[in-house]
Amino acid sequence: MDPAPASTSVPAAVTISGLTKTFSLPGVRNKTTVTAVDDLSFTVAPGEIYGLIGPNGSGKSTTMKVLLGLMAPTSGDTAIFGRDSRDFAARTDVGYLPENPYFYKHLTASETLYFYGKLCGLKRAPLRERTQELLALVDLEAARDRRLGGYSKGMLQRIALAAALIGSPRMVVLDEPTAGVDPAGSRKIRDLVISLRDRGITVFLCSHLLAQVQEVCDRIGIIARGRMVNEGTVDELLSVKDETEILLRHATPEALAAIKKSLIDHPKTELIRTGHPEASLETLFLSETNSEDSLDT
Ligand SMILES: Nc1ncnc2c1ncn2[C@@H]1O[C@H](COP(=O)(O)OP(=O)(O)OP(=O)(O)O)[C@@H](O)[C@H]1O
Ligand SMILES: [Mg+2]
Repeated sequence: MDPAPASTSVPAAVTISGLTKTFSLPGVRNKTTVTAVDDLSFTVAPGEIYGLIGPNGSGKSTTMKVLLGLMAPTSGDTAIFGRDSRDFAARTDVGYLPENPYFYKHLTASETLYFYGKLCGLKRAPLRERTQELLALVDLEAARDRRLGGYSKGMLQRIALAAALIGSPRMVVLDEPTAGVDPAGSRKIRDLVISLRDRGITVFLCSHLLAQVQEVCDRIGIIARGRMVNEGTVDELLSVKDETEILLRHATPEALAAIKKSLIDHPKTELIRTGHPEASLETLFLSETNSEDSLDT
């Protein structure tokens, strides 16, 4: 008998499986606990842009930190490209943009990238080349010799992104990549994220900018109180199953009248409205997460 064929299935870029994380909070009188992540499971496929959205305190950053091995889970498992997050080797394939990136303010942009590149074990010549390439990618070539102490918030986010990419990772984990960045700057970051996918890099991000998440993400997970409340592609999340949209270009009033008239023969079909389609990830987000009562308030 022939041996069974070897499995060709590629491991997921991110595997979160039954993850729970609780923190104990020492109080003045007694100790309380908070459940930041509650039996959470999802996967991110290689090459995908996956966006996790949720209100403040819903467990997005905690999930990312456990995935990156920066925090131990209370229970459950997480893995990166099939390797357990607790295994140090799992992290070599990942670049991370933390929620509040910290920098040595006296270093210039190129010195900063040199520093992080050395930490990743890059040799001098390839590092020089990589630094040049990344400064161009994040549009900071003109500011390469300025100290980070004089950088604006948007410039700091972009240098943080470049630092996350210095080791040529297969995946980047971006915790609020556009936090505090103006619309033009966050558009640049959005384009950068799309260009990462074009190079085959997996992107796992969380953000409060719903319109941007909607634009760039292949799939979205909506998290509330540490639990996944909805997940899917943008189309899946936003499609209203019992409604059908007909999109017309250059519709004249006569054409609309003719369509309405033709429905007379179909009394069960109801024309709800005619008008321009609207994006509404925000409406879905608010209704699914009951955002007004976030854990942090
Ligand atoms: N180190 C910690 N010690 C105690 N509690 C923590 C710690 N880190 C997170 N928490 C709590 O866990 C919950 C989830 O926090 P987390 O930072 O993961 O939320 P988030 O979704 O990233 O929120 P935001 O959108 O504000 O960044 C919150 O209630 C938070 O106060
Ligand atoms: Mg966070």
